[in-house]
Amino acid sequence: MKREDSHSSKNFGEVLEQRFERRALLGGLMKSIPATALLATAAAPAAAAEAAPEAAAAASPAPQAKRETRLQFQAIKASTQDAIQASPGYKTSVLLKWGDPLFNDSPAFDPMAQTPAAQAKQFGYNNDWMGYFPLPAHDVTNPRHGLLAVNHEYTNPELMFRTYGGFANQTAEQTEIELQAHGLTVVEVMRNSKGDWSYVVGSRYNRRITATTPAELTGPAAGSDWLKTSADPTGRRVLGSLNNCSGGQTPWGTILSGEENFHQYFSNAGRVTNAQAKAINTLYGMPEANGEYPWARHVDRFDMAKEPNEANRFGWIVEFDPYQPQSVVRKRTALGRMRHEGCTIQVAQSGQIVAYTGDDERFQFAYKYVSKGKYNAFDRLANDTLLDEGTLYAAKFNADGTGEWLPLVFGQGPLTAANGFANQADVLVNARGAAARLGATPMDRPEDIETNPVNGKVFIALTNNTRRTDRDKDAANPRANNRWGHIIELTEDNGDHTATKFFWEVFILCGDPAQASHGTFFAGYDPKQVSALACPDNITFDSKGNLWIATDGQPGTLGVNDGIYAVPTDGVERGFVRQLMSGVKGAETASLVFNSDDTALFVSIQHPGEGGRWTLNEADLVSKWPDGGGPNKPGVVVVTKAEGNPVVGS
Ligand code: FEO
Ligand code: CA
Ligand code: CA
Repeated sequence: MKREDSHSSKNFGEVLEQRFERRALLGGLMKSIPATALLATAAAPAAAAEAAPEAAAAASPAPQAKRETRLQFQAIKASTQDAIQASPGYKTSVLLKWGDPLFNDSPAFDPMAQTPAAQAKQFGYNNDWMGYFPLPAHDVTNPRHGLLAVNHEYTNPELMFRTYGGFANQTAEQTEIELQAHGLTVVEVMRNSKGDWSYVVGSRYNRRITATTPAELTGPAAGSDWLKTSADPTGRRVLGSLNNCSGGQTPWGTILSGEENFHQYFSNAGRVTNAQAKAINTLYGMPEANGEYPWARHVDRFDMAKEPNEANRFGWIVEFDPYQPQSVVRKRTALGRMRHEGCTIQVAQSGQIVAYTGDDERFQFAYKYVSKGKYNAFDRLANDTLLDEGTLYAAKFNADGTGEWLPLVFGQGPLTAANGFANQADVLVNARGAAARLGATPMDRPEDIETNPVNGKVFIALTNNTRRTDRDKDAANPRANNRWGHIIELTEDNGDHTATKFFWEVFILCGDPAQASHGTFFAGYDPKQVSALACPDNITFDSKGNLWIATDGQPGTLGVNDGIYAVPTDGVERGFVRQLMSGVKGAETASLVFNSDDTALFVSIQHPGEGGRWTLNEADLVSKWPDGGGPNKPGVVVVTKAEGNPVVGS
């Protein structure tokens, strides 16, 4: 079925006119875009579908028999309680938590007797992004049985080890345990006839990727001098993946995961001597002396004085096949090196693969990658190199509501030897420097980017940026001291995800609408009716095109726990934000994903109790979740409704 106009009860002209008015309110952003141009843009996907129905079908979402976007749950009040809260009629339960055994020979978790070998066979720490992959692999819609892929972003040693001695006293064994607590988990999950979810210990699919799992570097930067170390003179083999934050799923059934704050594991960038390397290290925030973690004291590759290039082997998008537990983990250098957030794939009308990704740092950029090759729906393996050859672009947001995707291609524009780019490997290892040279727009921490499955529009969550000032604010980052973050909606030119031009508008300026000083905006919806929210972080869509938002930073901004919110993106309730659930004290609601029929929402509760310590004194704990005392255990919560009804409303 071709794409439908989602504005079912209004004609497009009316809707666009309303959006013009909203944008005019936001500062006259639309002055120079003729309405006819936007109308042509909006109408294009349908026209393209008629011209090439097969390609358009591949690029379109599953057909919707009934276009009902209205969410049907009662918003909860923001919470400061140390317990999960959810809207009436919803059930929450802990599916997985740190230390849970995954394999038949996994030792039972004993937090007082942790070992690296045990952690390697247990659910890791600080779960973040999740993906649901139905089982069996050919039943692409099975909502009851599947694989859950879970990222383990980072570790909190002060919460993991009782009476932890601090940076200077971390033992070699504690370092090794932390290495094994990072990475990813793949685990088989299923729902029983009562609607309760559980995971399968010993499933043949279960897998741990850790910070020591062998991985391959592929694509244009693989094998370059930047990636060579004493342990790997080929520049193609690396141990492990780090700081896996958000991620994505490919249409061919593989996992994508973004390596985000990799810099913090390294020390001694100040002792790197190569001038170009020093400049790049500074741009990437590599620690001059001690990093956040003391790992360099025990593992040489994290000491940049000894291995100046090891850090260049992190900060990539990682891909592997969850259906094959022995599949090789690959780092796809064609997508650039940065503090990657997620990676969301869209099949373009041409059949090319488009991957959206953000660099989560103040004043860094939003990116997309367009593959050279085309998606093959009939041969999984034929898609194996789609993320190795293509063009990476960074986004430039113009004040008039238009935008451009600027190609990061060696030899084009300023990306030449005169500016420090001697080949494409230089461009990709230093993607930040290349995008800045091109004039991409520095954003307020581009976090997750997701595409609406109903209409293909692209949503960018910008968590916050308290360093933005009146002097450097712009149309796409319109608030100085942006403590609360915002969300941008981007429409590719002609609805074509390979386009080099786009249109954009601010969808939500977050904050508390009751506080005039926050300057909030909810797509024009009545601010008296919405839930306050701040710091939009990870986002996802349900199959009806409603946007779901997980927050990271509400305790410090709104004085309440982080939580899960939903908002229609179309129709009369566009902008009507409501809170479905709340996390616990000290925790971030780091990520969220639906199963394939929206009857289960998996939510990552990350770093519960952060700010506290696990000691002999229970009063040092900020949270007692989930077990009623220390240690806190990050975990995955599954949210369901009675009788297996969809979480979005029946
Ligand atoms: Fe790990 Fe950008 O959050
Ligand atoms: Ca995040
Ligand atoms: Ca997401």
